[in-house]
Amino acid sequence: MAQPILRLGVNIDHVATVRNARGGCDPDPIRAAKLAEEAGADGITAHLREDRRHIGDADIEGLMDALTVPLNFEMAATAEMQQIALRHKPHAVCIVPEKREERTTEGGLEVAREENQLAHYIAPLREAGCRVSIFIAADQKQIEAANRIGAQVIELHTGAYCDAHAEGDFKTRDAELEKMRTMSAFAHELGLEVHAGHGLTYETVKPVAAFPEVVELNIGHFLIGESIFRGLTPAIAEMRRLMDEARA
Ligand code: PXP
Repeated sequence: MAQPILRLGVNIDHVATVRNARGGCDPDPIRAAKLAEEAGADGITAHLREDRRHIGDADIEGLMDALTVPLNFEMAATAEMQQIALRHKPHAVCIVPEKREERTTEGGLEVAREENQLAHYIAPLREAGCRVSIFIAADQKQIEAANRIGAQVIELHTGAYCDAHAEGDFKTRDAELEKMRTMSAFAHELGLEVHAGHGLTYETVKPVAAFPEVVELNIGHFLIGESIFRGLTPAIAEMRRLMDEARA
């Protein structure tokens, strides 16, 4: 049976990180997003953090105007972000946990504990036509809760798997992979669309890309870093090649 297509969402947050290191407008995340689009990205992901440490409000506006591929707008479940999402109505919103002191999104969202609140929070986003995705760990309890609150998509946090690989702890890495394998099948059975991402590299992407239930990977930090050495277009093309190879 032919496998469903695996989309690549390119996260451009860290183009903005470099820009913000100096202020001003270079490098321009919108230009990077357009280039990523031309290089074969199926979507662009951007995380507007509460502290605006990378992507800013004007970037979201610019992306909404410039993109022809869908924008996946990552945001914390705050009233301010809900308003911004309702104003722009991006193709998708991905609800992520956010802590001021973290360097990156460290874990998945605690959906089970906040079920009622989150159900109310995402309802208007769904009504506005956004696909609502919830960034969670590969945990059955969280997946069931994401399904109950009315999310259409879950994105599995691949960070623990990637960290274990980087540390050479292959036992943990393989156990994390196995959890994601089982849980992506479980989520798919419930009728949820399954995405995955965080920390993926050329070395770690293939086993995740091979899960037949996963239809989208969101990848940023590694690709932007790699683009310093080989350029953004070849960096994306290589990721695409590895994903296709894993899927074949
Ligand atoms: N998916 C989600 C929900 C994220 O929060 C992030 C990081 O912003 C990514 C994917 C991409 O992670 P990375 O930049 O490590 O590839």
